[in-house]
Amino acid sequence: MKIIDFKWLNFLEKYRSLARHNLSNSGMPEPDLKALGINVEYETYLKETGDLDAELRDAIAKRYGVDRDNVILTNGGTEAIFLASAFLSATSDIITVPFPEYEPIFLVPEAMGSRVRRVRLESMARADTEGESLAISLPNNPTGKYEDIADIVTRIGGSYRHVYIDETFHDFTDDRRVSLYDGSKNMIISNTMTKFYGLSSLRVGWIISHKDNIAAMRKIKDLTTINNARFSLFLAKQAIERWSFFRERTHSIVRKNAEKARRELSDFEFYSEKYEGAPFLFVGNGNFDSEKMATTAVQKYGLLVAPGSYFGLDGYLRVCITAYDAGPDLSAFREFAEKERLK
Ligand SMILES: Cc1ncc(COP(=O)(O)O)c(C=O)c1O
Repeated sequence: MKIIDFKWLNFLEKYRSLARHNLSNSGMPEPDLKALGINVEYETYLKETGDLDAELRDAIAKRYGVDRDNVILTNGGTEAIFLASAFLSATSDIITVPFPEYEPIFLVPEAMGSRVRRVRLESMARADTEGESLAISLPNNPTGKYEDIADIVTRIGGSYRHVYIDETFHDFTDDRRVSLYDGSKNMIISNTMTKFYGLSSLRVGWIISHKDNIAAMRKIKDLTTINNARFSLFLAKQAIERWSFFRERTHSIVRKNAEKARRELSDFEFYSEKYEGAPFLFVGNGNFDSEKMATTAVQKYGLLVAPGSYFGLDGYLRVCITAYDAGPDLSAFREFAEKERLK
């Protein structure tokens, strides 16, 4: 194991207190669960004597059309990335990670001592060797790209030993499928309650895969966290059963903000011209030092955004649009972008 810095997390910790305009949060605001009809009473929870882990796995399995044995619960998407990366590291000679990409997807296998090969997102191709695996987030964090990339992954996925897809932002898209998971033995997908449901405080996520892969990841989890917090499982199960409500809430907030962002920032360039529902936009032209620019943004303008370089692609900034009304923050971003000549 190597000790490696998670740069984005360090940046957040250093500058969060300066943020007057926070465009860094890719998760929805925390909802009022009680107002959604979710029972949040600790006394009711205490009377729940059943196996809440199994019950939540059943609820997730039902959504995905799989069996309970195809599901393992994780402590957020972060543990899902850790378990999937550990599994890929143990079973692959090399892991291909397209860039730009959410840092842990390439950092965790690198920290584990795996060989990681980075290729440009749009240039992904079939595996070169038999022991090669692929890891990617879809929709891609930070570009928000989905359909074209999902088509490529679907076409070439079979050539890889394992394909790990982090679907954290899937439910923000218009894809009517619950997931890209198709039951192939080499496929692993994960998701979390943190972003779409806005329930980061529960620390609940999951992985879906073939039952043999899940059994292997179970053994890795047994060496680390073993279980999830039981009260979180009690709440998570009720939230998942209200998926449609969360869908409406999330879409109405993010889509409205996306329209505003496209209008407000129309003088600037976006990595992807097509907007596909993700709760962020990747703004820039590839021609500036994004870490320096994000530092200026927060120090001079109180604007918190993520530098593209932390995702492996300089010259862009990731702008999140999850606030109830991102309008004022987007206006502040436009002012900053004009003054600092982001064009
Ligand atoms: C693609 C992706 N996966 C996983 C996570 C982590 O999720 P969690 O907070 O549930 O650990 C994030 C958080 O930003 C993410 O962007």
